[in-house]
Amino acid sequence: MIHAENIYFKYYKEYVLKNINFSVKNGEIFGIIGKTGSGKSTLVNILSGLVKPDEGTVFIDGKNIFNKKESGNLLSKKISTVFQHPEKQLFNKCIYDDIAFSMKNQNIPEDIIKKNITEVCKFLNISDDILNSSPFCISGGEKRKCALACALVTKPKILILDEPTSGLDAYTANKFLNYIKEYHNKEKSTIIFTSNSVGNFAYLCDKILILDNGEEKILDKPENIFKKCKELGFSAPNIWQIISIINSKGYNIPEKTSTISEMQENIWKLIKEKEVENKCKI
Ligand SMILES: Nc1ncnc2c1ncn2[C@@H]1O[C@H](COP(=O)(O)OP(=O)(O)OP(=O)(O)O)[C@@H](O)[C@H]1O
Ligand SMILES: [Mg+2]
Repeated sequence: MIHAENIYFKYYKEYVLKNINFSVKNGEIFGIIGKTGSGKSTLVNILSGLVKPDEGTVFIDGKNIFNKKESGNLLSKKISTVFQHPEKQLFNKCIYDDIAFSMKNQNIPEDIIKKNITEVCKFLNISDDILNSSPFCISGGEKRKCALACALVTKPKILILDEPTSGLDAYTANKFLNYIKEYHNKEKSTIIFTSNSVGNFAYLCDKILILDNGEEKILDKPENIFKKCKELGFSAPNIWQIISIINSKGYNIPEKTSTISEMQENIWKLIKEKEVENKCKI
């Protein structure tokens, strides 16, 4: 369980985070959504233990991550973070060394490091060419994928992703989303991610916190957030908008429908039901 309690933080005079309180149960997916400058990355830095809040704290399984005695073990073994700018996380002479970095720091034997790297690269489809490349010689999307590999390779119990799909084309963003879904299904880890829009990621969440200018505007389930998107100043996901229009005409497509193929299936069902209804009338 992650528990953020009464967090306040300021870089200068003004607080950029004010009275933030939330809990995330083990295995949940938690979305932090807010417009640019709302405080998402600052909150990620605090949850990752990099920055200490001015007031309040973060507990993981009841332990205060800013308590010096607890923090080392807790943070390095349980939490992995992919920051908003992945290039800042890749600094070794080649990607292999970047992915191996945290395991070397934990004195994990070389053969296990190799095995884990092979496994994560197979999972994320990272080629040997990329593994041997300098992080300065690969594309932005590849950097993002390699930063994700650095985070996943230790199979963290808590994975924090700051705007994981920003700058990716829709196809790659979708693939990325699938990697994360698959990882969550396999490892049952807790995942916290941030986004500046209520997009496709929102469907994965158990809960969503909307940050507005450093304050909690609302904390609720995705379906309830989608309903309030307009008043919150966001666009609801396209699929959800289409389903709301169809359902407002008296149909009943499940609100949980989150992919084009699920929507196709549900619309086919409606059409077939209508056909049967019409045949009965004749
Ligand atoms: N290193 C810093 N020094 C001073 N102020 C900062 C610093 N980093 C962020 N800020 C300010 O803190 C506030 C929150 O910034 P933060 O980066 O957390 O927002 P964000 O929601 O992640 O934005 P974005 O969507 O653009 O990534 C902003 O007003 C920003 O200008
Ligand atoms: Mg940010």
